[in-house]
Amino acid sequence: MLEDTYGHTPVHKAFQQLDVYGIGYDERRANRIPIRLGIIGAGGVAQSKYFPAVARLRMIWEPVEIAAFSEPREEHGRKVQAIYGGQWYADYRTMLAEAKLDGVIILSPDNLHFEHTLASLESGRHVLVEKPITGSLVDAKHICNAADEHHAILMTVANKRYSPPYRRAKQAIESGSIHDPALFVGKFNLGYDYVDLLESGTIHLFDIARYLMGDVVALTAIGVNKYGRNRRKYPIDNAVITLEFASGAVGTIYTSASALNLKPWERVEVYGDHAWLSVEDQHELLIYDSEEGPTKSWRTVIPNTLLFDEEFGGYMGIIENFAQAIRGNDQPLVTGWDGYRAIELLRAVQLSLMSNSRVTLPLSDPHSADHEVKAWLEASGWPGKS
Ligand SMILES: NC(=O)c1ccc[n+]([C@@H]2O[C@H](COP(=O)([O-])OP(=O)(O)OC[C@H]3O[C@@H](n4cnc5c(N)ncnc54)[C@H](O)[C@@H]3O)[C@@H](O)[C@H]2O)c1
Repeated sequence: MLEDTYGHTPVHKAFQQLDVYGIGYDERRANRIPIRLGIIGAGGVAQSKYFPAVARLRMIWEPVEIAAFSEPREEHGRKVQAIYGGQWYADYRTMLAEAKLDGVIILSPDNLHFEHTLASLESGRHVLVEKPITGSLVDAKHICNAADEHHAILMTVANKRYSPPYRRAKQAIESGSIHDPALFVGKFNLGYDYVDLLESGTIHLFDIARYLMGDVVALTAIGVNKYGRNRRKYPIDNAVITLEFASGAVGTIYTSASALNLKPWERVEVYGDHAWLSVEDQHELLIYDSEEGPTKSWRTVIPNTLLFDEEFGGYMGIIENFAQAIRGNDQPLVTGWDGYRAIELLRAVQLSLMSNSRVTLPLSDPHSADHEVKAWLEASGWPGKS
């Protein structure tokens, strides 16, 4: 279903058709039913990732448009409308009431995801919501059930699943190159100290761990606030998490919010039987599946002047998958329940950190899990002011 172009113009277009930027007529895409999307929240990630990804999809003939967007900040609203078009609404309720939309993408702050997702589902639209799906397990469950009641598609953003090296890693596991893996190792270096290490950054690795290895049945986490300078006073700036998967495999994630502020940097390794693979910082996949070699590697083979971050970051993939799911042509690669499982892992890590003990999954009482963690965070001074 998903085409693997590895983040650059397909070679046959670039070199055989001399369509260097891959913009030539694509009959297959052009013939698809047009999809009209709305966006709630046209801030940083909307402007830097989603609008460019939709523009790039349109450039390669995918009939999808941002027909409307809502954004309370006038300077954002006017700028985005001038650059990308689409009807700007200051109030999302007016947009949902007036605009003709097939689906809505929720890119508002985390604490508004629940309200915006629910309102969009109740207005009869399909929804793609940024991570974390909601701030609580109880709310996440509520909107997953609401989507079922409204017979609507609910997808959560796990954009890394759509990034070519991770897609290839998944294929290597499914095809048997790394058969029935035994060990997952994930490293995440968030760097920034102004967002939560676990909820804002490591949650991506929680999802990738489930995507590559299947469900987690137990975990143990230890962490420190070594430097104590986290501006929001989150209790942890460095943590190590051990995972036990339903398959019998084990895993570990180590994650840091205190190293370089340059950019998030991640690495994943999966170990099988006389075979293993690594994905280095979402751009290079190495597969070691033969004692005699050679190592198989997938990395960009075309100069980075022809590389499209919109695709490599996974944003074009997730938007096209959302549109194709709305048309009934594809299954969502990531669902609302995957978003629920990602924050369930987050909760389990927090419960393990606060209790110094092993936590089993699935969590039997989401309400008390939310409650216990909130009390622990508040007692630690969260959310502190800078
Ligand atoms: N997938 C990723 O890797 C990734 C990366 C960055 C951010 N995110 C997520 O994307 C979301 C947005 O993050 P951001 O960095 O763009 O934040 P941001 O603050 O830059 O943008 C959010 C926007 O929502 C607007 N907004 C606030 N209230 C609103 C309302 N009631 N209706 C409509 N719009 C409203 C704000 O004015 C702002 O422009 C967050 O949930 C964040 O966690 C995900």
